Amino acid sequence: MAIITSILSVFFLALISAAPQAPVALSAVSSAVPTPSASNQSTTLTTKEIDEIFNLHEDLVNIPSISNDEVKCAEFLSEYLTELGYYVEKVPVGDTGTYDVFAYPQALKDEGFWPEVLVTSHIDTVSPFYPFERREENGTVYHYGRGTVDAKGPIATMIIATHKFAQSRTETPSLGMLFVVGEEIGGTGMKAFASYAQNTTFRAGVFGEPTQGKLASGHKGSLRLVFEVKGKSAHSEYPWLGVSAINYLAEAIVALNMLEPALPRSELLDATTLNVGLIAGGLAGNVVPDIANASIVVRIARSEDDAVSVVQDMISGILSPVVARAGAANATLDIVFSNTTYPAPILDTDVEGLEVAHVFFRTDIPSLTQVGKRYLLGPRTIEVAHTPVEGLSQEELVQAAEAYGFILESLFARE
Ligand SMILES: *[C@@H]1O[C@H](CO)[C@@H](O)[C@H](O)[C@H]1NC(C)=O
Ligand SMILES: *[C@@H]1O[C@H](CO)[C@@H](O)[C@H](O)[C@H]1NC(C)=O
Ligand SMILES: *[C@@H]1O[C@H](CO)[C@@H](O)[C@H](O)[C@H]1NC(C)=O
Ligand SMILES: *[C@@H]1O[C@H](CO)[C@@H](O)[C@H](O)[C@H]1NC(C)=O
Ligand SMILES: *[C@@H]1O[C@H](CO)[C@@H](O)[C@H](O)[C@H]1NC(C)=O
Ligand SMILES: *[C@@H]1O[C@H](CO)[C@@H](O)[C@H](O)[C@H]1NC(C)=O
Repeated sequence: MAIITSILSVFFLALISAAPQAPVALSAVSSAVPTPSASNQSTTLTTKEIDEIFNLHEDLVNIPSISNDEVKCAEFLSEYLTELGYYVEKVPVGDTGTYDVFAYPQALKDEGFWPEVLVTSHIDTVSPFYPFERREENGTVYHYGRGTVDAKGPIATMIIATHKFAQSRTETPSLGMLFVVGEEIGGTGMKAFASYAQNTTFRAGVFGEPTQGKLASGHKGSLRLVFEVKGKSAHSEYPWLGVSAINYLAEAIVALNMLEPALPRSELLDATTLNVGLIAGGLAGNVVPDIANASIVVRIARSEDDAVSVVQDMISGILSPVVARAGAANATLDIVFSNTTYPAPILDTDVEGLEVAHVFFRTDIPSLTQVGKRYLLGPRTIEVAHTPVEGLSQEELVQAAEAYGFILESLFARE
């Protein structure tokens, strides 16, 4: 089939989705995520490509790849991309044998070049594993299972869309794919790749995470910290002989939560928010606790270089009276800021035909600093990721693949 218009492709999609089941209503998703009206041979998918996406998505979801146990899925991707004709580099992550899959056209390898543009997402999922399930609901066919959304939907659609785009060009585009491990556990895979590629600058990166098929204009920054309190233990019947670490920790948490509304906001990302997510300490009800701590994550709405230090200073400031009171009682309250912090990344949105929206969740983007233009897009929403009902519709997959095609068209049109 040489030329397919977008109207025809929607028609074929309906046929395909409907094939084993009842007729399909396209309205639900189409109204929320409009397919871009303009389209090209290099972005509009054929029925064969749509089938390839659905099958690849199913295969990927059926290979469990919980963080720290991704090798089988990485191996599958390496073989799949090799069969498509790509040169695959396995970039080691840590010393456990796991690796990132970095694939680019053999023609680039032969000329000794790395790709200038990276299309990337992550292989790992959170636990537990839920197998793939294709189910029709309310006339729409859905793919359910762990990772369908986060992020095997992006992976399957990126591979087919990128390959289609590359084949549509007369000259091999300087374009590669990178599928990393460890995204859910602090971005270990992307950090390893960033260091592996430290001497390389990429012209652009297309990152795949669930954004409801829209181009994300930015996401919040991150600051992790721990309050560590040391007091003095004593029997609960002689509390004056001790200093309760828990009491000072409680004071510190109250002060921090009172500060939250005053943290810097931005027009794009709204409020900076914080979460005291874990507390620990104490031994028993009848012992004055000598140790207590709390782990906190602050999601920073501002993108300025000093955004993190501004928030750090505000936290230190609001807590200084508590620190002083603890010190006067011979206790210590330490505020330990993590060194892996970053202000909110602002992303590129200059692709015609795609809707724009901001997102709140964290991505691997800040870990790969050597990228010029940065785009973030993927099917479905983060709200279903990490849940037992993680799933998306087949239309959302097709629309994401076409959206990736649009981004690539626009990136390579400007050369
Ligand atoms: C379609 O392709 C042409 C030629 O490759 C390009 O100039 C145009 O920008 C493309 N349109 C879209 C919407 O991608
Ligand atoms: C199907 O429709 C019912 C009733 O309107 C609704 O509660 C349910 O959430 C729908 N399911 C999906 C997957 O949209
Ligand atoms: C990267 O660049 C640094 C500084 O220019 C150089 O010392 C190092 O050998 C380079 N590493 C690689 C792998 O090319
Ligand atoms: C917090 O305290 C608990 C219990 O004393 C301890 O196991 C844990 O390592 C501490 N965590 C931090 C980050 O200090
Ligand atoms: C703190 O420790 C010092 C030195 O050990 C002691 O003199 C002082 O009384 C202690 N203060 C309190 C409030 O326990
Ligand atoms: C951050 O701290 C960890 C452990 O505290 C250390 O291993 C790591 O090298 C530090 N990273 C930087 C960039 O300083």
